[in-house]
Amino acid sequence: MNMGNMAKITLKTLQKKAENEIKNSKNLKDLDSVYKKYLDKQGELSQILRSLNKMPKTKRIKLGKEANELKQVLKENIEQKTKKLKEKTFKQAYEKEWIDVTMPGKKPVLGHLHPLTQVKREVERIFQLMGFSIIEGPEIETAWYNFDVLNIPKDHPARDLWDTFYLKNGMLLRTHTSPVQVRYMEKNNPPLRIIVPGRIFRHEATDANHEFNFYHVEGLMIDRNISAANFRAVLQEFYREFFKKPVKIRMRPSYFPFVVPGFEVDMSCTVCLGKGCATCGRTGWQEMMGAGMVHPSVLKNAGFNPKNWQGFAFGMGLERLAMMKYRINDIRLFYKGDLRFLKQF
Ligand code: PHE
Repeated sequence: MNMGNMAKITLKTLQKKAENEIKNSKNLKDLDSVYKKYLDKQGELSQILRSLNKMPKTKRIKLGKEANELKQVLKENIEQKTKKLKEKTFKQAYEKEWIDVTMPGKKPVLGHLHPLTQVKREVERIFQLMGFSIIEGPEIETAWYNFDVLNIPKDHPARDLWDTFYLKNGMLLRTHTSPVQVRYMEKNNPPLRIIVPGRIFRHEATDANHEFNFYHVEGLMIDRNISAANFRAVLQEFYREFFKKPVKIRMRPSYFPFVVPGFEVDMSCTVCLGKGCATCGRTGWQEMMGAGMVHPSVLKNAGFNPKNWQGFAFGMGLERLAMMKYRINDIRLFYKGDLRFLKQF
């Protein structure tokens, strides 16, 4: 067999081999190796083409043409296979990554506001509707603002009304939000209407109705000719809006050194509906707030002339309010962090 025939046979086998390998390529990498193996400069086909140099001219032209045609055929084969493989990978990815956008989404677990925060915001909303501003004050307070300025001098027995946490530096944890009344009056001129929601502290034994850390909302309205009747009207409007129904309340005379006269406001207990239970101390009434007409000495301390200005003040427990709204029978539940309780709101 002469060299020409040999080359011809080699071309045939090469074609078979290459076409087989192209067909069996599983991915683009396989295909790339096939390309390199046959068609690169060092590839088998290129080598054959190069070996043609030594042949007589006619054969060289004929075989050269055949080899170049084969090169073309293989290239096209590879191209087609590449296209097929690419389509396949795309299809696979498409199937694997397909998502049903019409499926209902997974709901992320979201927390929500603590019932006390909800109640606080509701109280703020209602008083804002009535023209009250929301003011804050410090939780660590001086004895001066917590007591003296409120007409409770040092060594006066009235200080015993508040079991106080004293700090080593002479300050104390405020026992009520009333100090903010004076703090505000010192810096603002009447007429004024504010509420002061905030945390307060008392050295108390805890029970269903008492905590040593709880929340008050102070209220203060100062203007000309303000009377207890105005207080009652504001309060009734607040309760009606807060409980979304008329609420039975009563005002009892009481004593706080910074008001005169002073009252305590009770509402009919919603836990037992007035029958008497542990929450209301078996009385059927729940004490909701202390209040009264601001004492002339306090007005003077704040720099106001009591002849021109008067008004009312009150301090209500936020927890009590929440307990009456949601019929919660134990104040300690608010601070336990028990999700079974908190999730109900
Ligand atoms: N600060 C009083 C308390 O601690 C409540 C109160 C506020 C009473 C304002 C009268 C006026 O109970």
